[in-house]
Amino acid sequence: MQYRRHTQSDVPAIVQLFTSVFADAEGDAEGELIGRLAKDLFEQTDQRDLFNFVAASQGEIVGSIFFTRLTFQASGPVFLLAPVAVRTDKQGQGVGQALIRHGLQAVREQGVVAALTYGDPRFYTKVGFRGISEQTIAAPYELSQPEGWLGQSLAGTSLETLAGKCACVEAFREPDYW
Ligand SMILES: CC(C)(COP(=O)(O)OP(=O)(O)OC[C@H]1O[C@@H](n2cnc3c(N)ncnc32)[C@H](O)[C@@H]1OP(=O)(O)O)[C@@H](O)C(=O)NCCC(=O)NCCS
Repeated sequence: MQYRRHTQSDVPAIVQLFTSVFADAEGDAEGELIGRLAKDLFEQTDQRDLFNFVAASQGEIVGSIFFTRLTFQASGPVFLLAPVAVRTDKQGQGVGQALIRHGLQAVREQGVVAALTYGDPRFYTKVGFRGISEQTIAAPYELSQPEGWLGQSLAGTSLETLAGKCACVEAFREPDYW
């Protein structure tokens, strides 16, 4: 398995991956929604505010993760890990965890001081995330599942230094995603 940053020519396959993985996991409407989100993230986000990493095997993309910038009133560079997808027939084989570890190391090397995510704590705690409270570290919108708000420091500084309001990139400015 190869873990690397995406290239422009990977974009259609990545959008298709998110559409099919979320359709398989949560139904066709969710597949359409998250496929659209992946497309919007690529089309609407300044390249300085986005990293995408892929897992590829024999020339095929089998996993993909996005990191996009979160802006706090006071903090160094912080990125949100979401969404994450591993092809349905490749799940449960360690690809997701390896891809996230690769991505976290790569963004750390780019000076990112913290990563936050919003998802299933049973999965994300395996790759270094811990639960955080909205009262301590603001989310961009009110969270429907506050137990899914998770973070990890990448620079040895306390997460509690992320102060004030939090803004996400344009494609995530939709309360239904939160
Ligand atoms: C979630 C997902 C990215 C995980 O990737 P993966 O390659 O299947 O995961 P890995 O094999 O690296 O690790 C799975 C581990 O997490 C655990 N786990 C706990 N909750 C889990 C969950 N909701 N989904 C997947 N794994 C989960 C598994 O038991 C497994 O533990 P183990 O390594 O001790 O056996 C992938 O299953 C997926 O794309 N699912 C559908 C879409 C989705 O839910 N995306 C995440 C929300 S943005």
